[in-house]
Amino acid sequence: MAAGNGPWMALALLTLLAGLQTPALSEVSVQPNFKQDQFLGRWFTKGLASNATWFQEKKAKLSMCKSVVTAAEDGALNLTVTYFRDTQCITWSLLLEPTGTPGHYRYNKPKWGGNHELLVRETDYDQYAMFITRSTNGPDEGLFMAMLYTRSQDPVAKKELNEKFRSFAHSQGFTDEDIVFLHKIGKCIDDQ
Ligand SMILES: *[C@@H]1O[C@H](CO)[C@@H](O)[C@H](O)[C@H]1NC(C)=O
Ligand SMILES: *[C@@H]1O[C@H](CO)[C@@H](O)[C@H](O)[C@H]1NC(C)=O
Repeated sequence: MAAGNGPWMALALLTLLAGLQTPALSEVSVQPNFKQDQFLGRWFTKGLASNATWFQEKKAKLSMCKSVVTAAEDGALNLTVTYFRDTQCITWSLLLEPTGTPGHYRYNKPKWGGNHELLVRETDYDQYAMFITRSTNGPDEGLFMAMLYTRSQDPVAKKELNEKFRSFAHSQGFTDEDIVFLHKIGKCIDDQ
């Protein structure tokens, strides 16, 4: 390579990389002033939205999950999800690693692999949280989901929260067919 091309190549590459990476960080906002410690504790998956084909096929059968968020090392969060499937309780955990922007995390899925991001878009900490997840590579690449977590299995303000989530999902480009509100089964997610 001729002397003098190097810096241009490097610059072009940097610009290209910056161009590829900025959307991931800046195009989506997070809950301003996100307080990670207030996000800890138990949540229930009340609503989901996705346009993935498998989701469209399975959504009628999905039931509410319990998620427990605890603080892990180095600013990470441990998210442990429990739900009832067929005849048994299924539990798995993943580690949400901080990206430097509060409310924005990266994680790898156990078993399936691939890189994912989670952004907490809006939360009041004691009733609900709405966030999005997306896969940046791996088997789920391009998968984009919106979720509604609630502190209670059967929130008093259920109607308002559902409507809030519906308009949030619409704002993310999802249609009514992409949205599902999950029912509680009780099994596996009720604490003793
Ligand atoms: C889901 O929506 C995204 C963004 O609008 C689109 O690129 C993708 O093709 C859609 N997937 C399906 C299965 O419709
Ligand atoms: C997360 O917490 C669960 C439940 O306490 C535990 O079994 C799991 O090992 C933890 N995972 C990590 C990565 O810390």
